[in-house]
Amino acid sequence: MRALVTGGAGFIGSHLVDILLKKNHEVTILDNFSSGSPKNIDFRRVNVVKGDLRRPNDVRKVVDGSDFVFHLGACVGRSVFFPRLDFDTNALGTFNVFRACRSASIERVVVASSVMVYGNPGGKGIAKESECLSPIIPYGASKAAAEAYAMAFHHAWNIPAVVLRYFNVYGPRADPRNPYSGVVSRFLGRARRRLPPIIYGDGKQTRDFIYVKDVVKATLLAAERKAAVGEILNVGSESETTINKLASLVIDVAGLGELEPRHAATRMHEYRRLHADMTKTRKVLGFKADTSLREGLELTWESLNPAD
Ligand SMILES: NC(=O)c1ccc[n+]([C@@H]2O[C@H](COP(=O)([O-])OP(=O)(O)OC[C@H]3O[C@@H](n4cnc5c(N)ncnc54)[C@H](O)[C@@H]3O)[C@@H](O)[C@H]2O)c1
Repeated sequence: MRALVTGGAGFIGSHLVDILLKKNHEVTILDNFSSGSPKNIDFRRVNVVKGDLRRPNDVRKVVDGSDFVFHLGACVGRSVFFPRLDFDTNALGTFNVFRACRSASIERVVVASSVMVYGNPGGKGIAKESECLSPIIPYGASKAAAEAYAMAFHHAWNIPAVVLRYFNVYGPRADPRNPYSGVVSRFLGRARRRLPPIIYGDGKQTRDFIYVKDVVKATLLAAERKAAVGEILNVGSESETTINKLASLVIDVAGLGELEPRHAATRMHEYRRLHADMTKTRKVLGFKADTSLREGLELTWESLNPAD
């Protein structure tokens, strides 16, 4: 397969590229390196195009000649400060990808969306794909728009699109600056320096942490399974973890039993409880995450450079 990975220099994209290469696929990356890093790429084996999702011609050039498009490129975690950049990259950028797909012959487009489209559902915080979306930050809104374009192009022009709503992805190469998913790397990074985790608020807020290799597995299944076309699917671990629990697991994995987490004021723009209902994804993709949070934390811990 000739695979295009937008955002292939980023955290999740680069793990996806690694697996595509392992499976001997031809891989092209489109990235502007705004948050992705050249360190994540094996330049000898990948066709790297430095370009911008916001520019239709940059996108068209790489979509032409691809069989599969994995659209992971996005502006992540800056929307509260730069909502316009978010809109341009995530909504308009996705529109550009689909417009280019219309005039190419593409077998599948897998779009990375986000748990942030759900907002703050209240109750037990179980997110089901059929739920009404109510994003609480512009990033969530830009991802909801990206999803809507993916589905609209699918219905109007039969583009074989699948949307995946990733939950809180963690693992090696994750950017600790990402406010929505960087908590794991921030806690591990501090533990590396023998510093306690800083928990915002009471720590009883919950997240659905999923290891990056599991996310890559779901993404590849979405490209392979016919039944996935035209679907929007959650990609989470299905388990709900409090930030307090995460902090104590990190302390344990790092072997720093003497550390006590610190608490700081609650942050704005946070949701309280959210985890994935995976019923539909299990049925359509036959997917289940197999890495426990403890195992994933151990693997991420081992991957950290002692100097980090
Ligand atoms: N990390 C998570 O927990 C998480 C959760 C939900 C959804 N997602 C989604 O998964 C995808 C990958 O996220 P990630 O965590 O790997 O983030 P990341 O920031 O590491 O990767 C995004 C990549 O897109 C590139 N990019 C940004 N703007 C671009 C532009 N205008 N043109 C071309 N490239 C551009 C960046 O340089 C980067 O390499 C994103 O679509 C994100 O919204 C991530």
